[in-house]
Amino acid sequence: MILIDGKKVAAELRKELKQEVTELKAKHNKVPGLTVILIGDLTPSQIYVKNKEKSANEVGLKSEVIKYPDSVEEKTVLEKIQDLNNDETVSGILVQLPLPKHIDKQKVIEAIDPSKDVDGFHPMNVGNLSSGYESSIPCTPLGCYLLIKKFEPNLSGKKAVVVGRSNLNGKPMTQLLLKENCTVTITHSKTKDLKAECLEADIIVAAVGIPELVRGDWVKKDAIVIDVGINKTDNGIVGDVHFDEVSKNAKALTPVPGGVGPMTIACLLKNTIDCFKRSQI
Ligand code: GUN
Repeated sequence: MILIDGKKVAAELRKELKQEVTELKAKHNKVPGLTVILIGDLTPSQIYVKNKEKSANEVGLKSEVIKYPDSVEEKTVLEKIQDLNNDETVSGILVQLPLPKHIDKQKVIEAIDPSKDVDGFHPMNVGNLSSGYESSIPCTPLGCYLLIKKFEPNLSGKKAVVVGRSNLNGKPMTQLLLKENCTVTITHSKTKDLKAECLEADIIVAAVGIPELVRGDWVKKDAIVIDVGINKTDNGIVGDVHFDEVSKNAKALTPVPGGVGPMTIACLLKNTIDCFKRSQI
């Protein structure tokens, strides 16, 4: 079994992006800028945002974090997004989720100019991705896609099973695999026989948020398995895949941590740079 080293692939990607930022700076005399809005004091969100800021600085982006208390009014956030939409030094805007209950998530997502939507959550980008047009692609599925492609460049005709149908992961993942000419099955909590579906797969992407759901005997011998899960348990952080069991069967598997996670942030930086490049045309 081959361990797909997301940490290493992400470090390589960041190195390429750093070089690209240097070249863009020489050409345009400015660098891409990423602004993250963080609302409230949820610890995981704070950690994610800190990591995003650190990585953005490392590759030479202009990085800014705007923090609001949990009690901030929706209107204040929407007005700030408008300002950022109009700010030429801001190439990408990300509002960290989840949001407090009194703030309408969809309203916030739709307020972001689609050309600055580094999350790829705006309906315009969702639609463009599903129609096969150029768009921002959500960072986690993009990271999974790059890991799969690195390991197996030709995916045409492969059977892929995506476990989970979220807007963040499952649905965009499906679009990316379809674009590569995979035959894709989307499975979810109402799927009748998840094990039987997974046993058909050349590629499994598990993004469902259930600790160690995918077991060793669910996986074909030569399958590639990508584990998007980050689940807190009494035994520490585990993925959606039972690592010990599946590592005995699969051809290749991403670890948790050190698999998909590092790719997500690297892809956010990539999306910010891509937004900047499109804005300079
Ligand atoms: N919270 C957890 N994952 C994400 C993500 O990919 N984007 C945003 N904006 N918030 C998140």
